[in-house]
Amino acid sequence: MAIEIKIIDSIINFLQRLRNSADHAVKELKFTKYMYLFGERDDDIYVASYVKSGTTWMQMILYQLTTDGDMNFTHIYDVSPWLRNLAVTDGELKEWPSPRIIKMHDAYRTIPKSRKGRFICVIRDGRDVAWSFYHHEKNYVNNNITYEECFNMLFTNKDQVNWFEFTKEWLENRNGFPVLYVRYEDLKNDLGTQLARIADFIGVTVKKEDVPRIIERISFPFMKEHEKKFGEQPEAGKFEKVYNQFIRVGSTGEGVKQMDDKHYQLYKAEFDKNLAGYDIVKKYV
Ligand code: PPS
Repeated sequence: MAIEIKIIDSIINFLQRLRNSADHAVKELKFTKYMYLFGERDDDIYVASYVKSGTTWMQMILYQLTTDGDMNFTHIYDVSPWLRNLAVTDGELKEWPSPRIIKMHDAYRTIPKSRKGRFICVIRDGRDVAWSFYHHEKNYVNNNITYEECFNMLFTNKDQVNWFEFTKEWLENRNGFPVLYVRYEDLKNDLGTQLARIADFIGVTVKKEDVPRIIERISFPFMKEHEKKFGEQPEAGKFEKVYNQFIRVGSTGEGVKQMDDKHYQLYKAEFDKNLAGYDIVKKYV
């Protein structure tokens, strides 16, 4: 009987893997379809960042820089779509005005070489990303998840593009896309300089009278106050989710302090293998 059980278990295992692969393939095909229907424009602006690196903040910065900043939208995705999410949820593809601001967490290797538009890549210290991600997973995905599990998902995972590979590929930029790199820490410490760089990159001249509005609306307190427009919306039956922690703390160094020596040594070893040659991230280790 023990042998039969083993055979049954391996068939279950095989079928589960098959189902996972099929689910994955369906999601990828839906995304490809949405990208095709969405089309591409020369003035498209992609916010290309690893998760929990300041993507939403950059979407809001770009929205404020390129419009009159009207807050009369239900969710930032209404004015700055996340196409992958839209595709997997069969969301509505609207006609967004130019310049379109598109969120993505996609690996560099997945972007077609000929893709039109420009890219703003937000980079954040991996240790702070991990801490932010841990809270995100705990609050929105799995209340019982541990830091260790999150650490492995981000830094040692070989099934998906991990933080090191993601960052390295975007920094390498082997296809020569127009990419502006913006560090989360620089946004925190020297917002004025970063806003000027961003405006220059997207070809926007900021009017003096608009500056106070922009500064106010991209501030942490303002975005926190309007959390609902940026975070997840309550869903029936998902009572264990938290709905006020998407715009969470917005600080630098929190995850650096939290990482113990064992994890730091693992992080550093991978960092040295992948990112040692890149000045822009040298403070991240
Ligand atoms: S996601 O879910 O992957 O798209 O998350 P992402 O938007 O990339 O990153 C979320 C973190 O960005 C912080 N955030 C801000 N920090 C400073 N100022 C402003 N205005 C701001 N808006 C968002 C957010 O709080 C998350 O970081 P943590 O460390 O968790 O607070």
